[in-house]
Amino acid sequence: MKPHVCPWWLGPLLAIPMRRWVQDPARILAPYVQEGMTVLEPGPGMGFFTLDLARLVGDGKVIAVDLQPRMLTGLMKRAAKAGLEKRIETRVAEPSRMGIEDLRGSIDFALAFAMVHELPSPKDFFAELAPCLKPDGCVLMVEPAGHVPDEVFAEQVKAGEAAGLTMTERPKIWRSLTALLRRVG
Ligand SMILES: C[S@@+](CC[C@H](N)C(=O)[O-])C[C@H]1O[C@@H](n2cnc3c(N)ncnc32)[C@H](O)[C@@H]1O
Repeated sequence: MKPHVCPWWLGPLLAIPMRRWVQDPARILAPYVQEGMTVLEPGPGMGFFTLDLARLVGDGKVIAVDLQPRMLTGLMKRAAKAGLEKRIETRVAEPSRMGIEDLRGSIDFALAFAMVHELPSPKDFFAELAPCLKPDGCVLMVEPAGHVPDEVFAEQVKAGEAAGLTMTERPKIWRSLTALLRRVG
């Protein structure tokens, strides 16, 4: 499957409140995110999940890294409206590099929601991400079922495993393929 990046003008649509009826961020994230945590969110779009991540971490921090500056501008507008902007740092990524070397060993939880299929190389993505997780830190990868074939998702999981992560869970999320990948030890 050829990578295709979601256009920035779809950002507001991805963040509509109605989406909560089927993919409630608070419910999806609660098992993994606690106060004080440092969370990385690659490909946040306009922040459908980012605001809830910021609420859950309290005085912790969310680092949102997107390829498209316009997605990040939209995200920060929504964060400011909710009074959450101080908990969120944004970074602009390159297509095959997030630029997160400085976060080595510091991330408790990462959320990659509907973004891994847009990458040129899931293998390079996980190779960059895995060393940034704390020991026992994890990444929740969620991909749209139907849009991403099962065999492509299986390759994405393998890319995570090749980076030293272990799949420990497949949480149930509406119309999604999911894998919780943990840095064990
Ligand atoms: C389909 S949107 C999903 C947005 C959000 N996670 C959600 O579920 O609402 C995919 C996002 O990934 C971003 N993206 C694509 N390739 C990327 C890359 N190489 N690095 C960082 N972000 C990327 C896109 O710009 C877009 O914001």
